[in-house]
Amino acid sequence: MTTAQEAPALFDSAYYQDPYSVYDWLRVNSPVHSFRFPVGDVPMVFLSRYEDVKSLMSDQRFSNDGALWGSEEFKKSGMIFGGDTLIGRILTVLDPPDHTRVRKLAMGAFTPRRAALWKEPVDRIVNEALDELAKSENPDVMDFAGKIPADVTGEILGFPLDRFRDMLHAIERAFHADPENPNNAAEVDAAFEEIVTYGRELIVEKRKNPGEDLTSVFIQARDGEDRLTEDELVSMVALMIMAGIDTTRNLIGSAVLGLLDHPDQQRLLVEKPELTPGAVEEFLRYDGAFCVGLFRLAKEDLELGGVAIPAGTPVVAGLQSANHDPEQYLNPRSLDITRQGPRHLALGHGLHNCMGAALARLETGIAVPALLNRFPKMRLAVPREEIHFEDNWLLRSLPHLPVDLYGTGGR
Ligand code: HEM
Repeated sequence: MTTAQEAPALFDSAYYQDPYSVYDWLRVNSPVHSFRFPVGDVPMVFLSRYEDVKSLMSDQRFSNDGALWGSEEFKKSGMIFGGDTLIGRILTVLDPPDHTRVRKLAMGAFTPRRAALWKEPVDRIVNEALDELAKSENPDVMDFAGKIPADVTGEILGFPLDRFRDMLHAIERAFHADPENPNNAAEVDAAFEEIVTYGRELIVEKRKNPGEDLTSVFIQARDGEDRLTEDELVSMVALMIMAGIDTTRNLIGSAVLGLLDHPDQQRLLVEKPELTPGAVEEFLRYDGAFCVGLFRLAKEDLELGGVAIPAGTPVVAGLQSANHDPEQYLNPRSLDITRQGPRHLALGHGLHNCMGAALARLETGIAVPALLNRFPKMRLAVPREEIHFEDNWLLRSLPHLPVDLYGTGGR
């Protein structure tokens, strides 16, 4: 089944600029594709078809826990998240029954009543971000896109602003460490320890002075006699920040680029704001923030599509490949905010599906139309070919999206 020699490479610089051509090839020629992951040269399998990706995400023969189930090569690769800190035991890596228990306690905080409370801060923060963008000498949509989830997350978790800035700085160091640096592992662990310290301080503060914020709600969450332990609370606060900021930033950025590339869709969205909820789903499908899911590790020797998968093999769910599967979506490479079709997989599927989906949709559905309405003549400030995505195996991330806000070359 695999045709490794001819296959275009996954996770190299050409792939990061255009993963969709690689996915197109894989879906046709090697849908269950064995390859070696560049970090640590780890043997892995990549799934590219919608149906295969979807079933992997709810297949109980796979675990999310790399430290327990991963192959020796995977464990040695340094790809295991959070190291020995308690970030290494966050919800995303837990399997049932631990996952079921923690997720149920935390999900109690995401009620429709609470989600309705988030609209006011999101509106306010989007307006502030628009004002900052209007004043900028070199307006960059990614500054606008980054400010929104950072400020919204800090506010709804109940962080004091200066501590939250320190927390963001620690996260930046944990996730964007220089792999060439010989002290890399120690520095990443130190950054994770700092994240844990900020989380603990916030929990102490919220125990003393509870409010309407999410951290207070997590502290009070109960299921019968059960509640989140101190360590679970800290890792839940850290996870909200790690999972909710870069993702939403990148979705807003890719959505704006998608609309600049499809001016008819931009016009349609401005003329018919009632299309916004469907447009947000299409932004997620078209260029959602997660290229792939988190690693799934085979818990036993098994077979997928005729390919043997030894126990411990990490299997990669090609989320954006699934979302561009022509078996499911007509003209998958074009952005169509009126598109009908099966539910995309950009927010995951199954046990670990995105807990923050309502917040991500709310932020994107307010930020993108507000930007178009405020700057209807906005266009790219550089030639299209100068817009590049970051070399990032997990996130589809634009470092910069420079724009001419008034479409005049000046103000
Ligand atoms: C555009 C924005 C977002 C995208 C594209 C996104 C995508 C995803 C995906 C694909 C997963 C599943 C990963 C897997 O199973 O391999 C996931 C899980 C998760 N997301 Fe999001 N996410 C976004 C925003 C957020 C926000 C704003 C929050 C929190 C406020 C959040 C919290 C989480 C959590 C806690 C999980 C883990 C759930 C579990 O393991 O049970 N996400 N997200």
